[in-house]
Amino acid sequence: MTGVDDDSVSIRAESPGDEEAVDVVVREAFLQQFGSDGEVGLVRTLRERGELIPELTLVAESGGRILGFIAFSEVEVDGERVGGLGLAPVAVMPERQRLGIGEILIRSALDRAASLGWRFVVVLGHGQYYSRFGFEPAAPRGLRGAYGDGPSWMVVPLANHGLLCGTVRHCSAFRE
Ligand SMILES: CC(C)(COP(=O)(O)OP(=O)(O)OC[C@H]1O[C@@H](n2cnc3c(N)ncnc32)[C@H](O)[C@@H]1OP(=O)(O)O)[C@@H](O)C(=O)NCCC(=O)NCCS
Repeated sequence: MTGVDDDSVSIRAESPGDEEAVDVVVREAFLQQFGSDGEVGLVRTLRERGELIPELTLVAESGGRILGFIAFSEVEVDGERVGGLGLAPVAVMPERQRLGIGEILIRSALDRAASLGWRFVVVLGHGQYYSRFGFEPAAPRGLRGAYGDGPSWMVVPLANHGLLCGTVRHCSAFRE
């Protein structure tokens, strides 16, 4: 159950021309939450390097205005491509947060990723929030990452795929 009328928010893949509006959403959301807008540069770098998964680079739109954004890139486990994704970033305009837009974006993206055959998604985020989508701490499942092994480092298997053990490496845009 979400706090917005699902009909009023539509989810679609990012298309050429959306970049500036996406920058605004990411900048405003991260400035408000963390006091830093470094994620804007991350999104640009991911896009420039072709490291975003186009089918999973989604915007939430209402009344012709982009209010939310989510992106995924491929991760490797022990240097191998194994069907893993990293979720980052997800952002919703501050004045439209806590209305369910983030939830619609994440559920829609996870459904699409599963349909496309991806096997799992990792995220560094708030456990209380991501657990509602099935994410669990990744370290106890045998997946280590560059972001420590704390409870914020999480993973969700997609469809009925099992998880591999190993060390996760994000794509180049995250390693600068
Ligand atoms: C995280 C974010 C995308 C959620 O979007 P949203 O549209 O507000 O999310 P929803 O309305 O679906 O869900 C709201 C829930 O998220 C929880 N939530 C949001 N931000 C949170 C935070 N920083 N810590 C813990 N919980 C948080 C709220 O508690 C709320 O839970 P409730 O419904 O039980 O009250 C949005 O808050 C945002 O853009 N934050 C800044 C950027 C960020 O932190 N991104 C995630 C890291 S990549």
